[in-house]
Amino acid sequence: MFSQDHITKYPSLAKYANEDYTESHDGREAALLKYIYNHPSLPQFRNSPPAILAVIDEFAAQEDFLINIGSDKAAKVCDIIAQEQPSVFVELGGLEFDPVIADIARNLIDLAGLSDIVTVVVGSAANSLRKLHSEGTLDYMDLLFLDHVEDLYLSDFQVCESLGLLRSGALVVADNVLRPGAPQYREFMRGYNKVESWAVKGLIIPGELEDELEVPRIK
Ligand SMILES: C[S@@+](CC[C@H](N)C(=O)[O-])C[C@H]1O[C@@H](n2cnc3c(N)ncnc32)[C@H](O)[C@@H]1O
Repeated sequence: MFSQDHITKYPSLAKYANEDYTESHDGREAALLKYIYNHPSLPQFRNSPPAILAVIDEFAAQEDFLINIGSDKAAKVCDIIAQEQPSVFVELGGLEFDPVIADIARNLIDLAGLSDIVTVVVGSAANSLRKLHSEGTLDYMDLLFLDHVEDLYLSDFQVCESLGLLRSGALVVADNVLRPGAPQYREFMRGYNKVESWAVKGLIIPGELEDELEVPRIK
């Protein structure tokens, strides 16, 4: 799957040769936390989101592949955020199913100094959306980021729609539309008359494989 050049540049990819290899939820996320807290540059990470993102990418390249968005596509999403200036940004994948991963995310959000503006909610995205809406915490979103399970992108988008959370002008950004792939979601969005949808190209890092974000805007 990966060339020797890739593996030299990103040693973590050598582990892909093992056929039992899994990409996440095998303890590596806790190992990432230890890596960060044992890192000689730890003092520079506090209150520095860019430094924390860089050390996460360093771990993914050197130690174990991570299913985080990676530096290339993250820059594309940052461009979109800078352009849109959303006041409410919801990530499905930040409404997080796994409580251990949620706690690791909270820890890093706190280290980054972002605890006052970022909330990680534990539960399935669909249940959390309904709960946040019914308790009056979430009335709308300017930007919805789909980065949890490709097979749930469409049904969870439809949960947001059915709750009236996506107003005219809201933007939806879905990761991994080419790899691992969300072909049904893309096909739906390209034919859906309530949105205008386009692709933004990017790379999965480490590995430098091509991927695309699908970006529909609600008309
Ligand atoms: C690709 S990761 C998110 C990566 C993150 N956006 C980043 O770039 O660092 C997807 C996460 O979604 C979580 N997840 C899986 N199914 C879910 C569901 N139904 N609802 C919410 N989160 C879910 C997984 O536990 C996993 O941590």
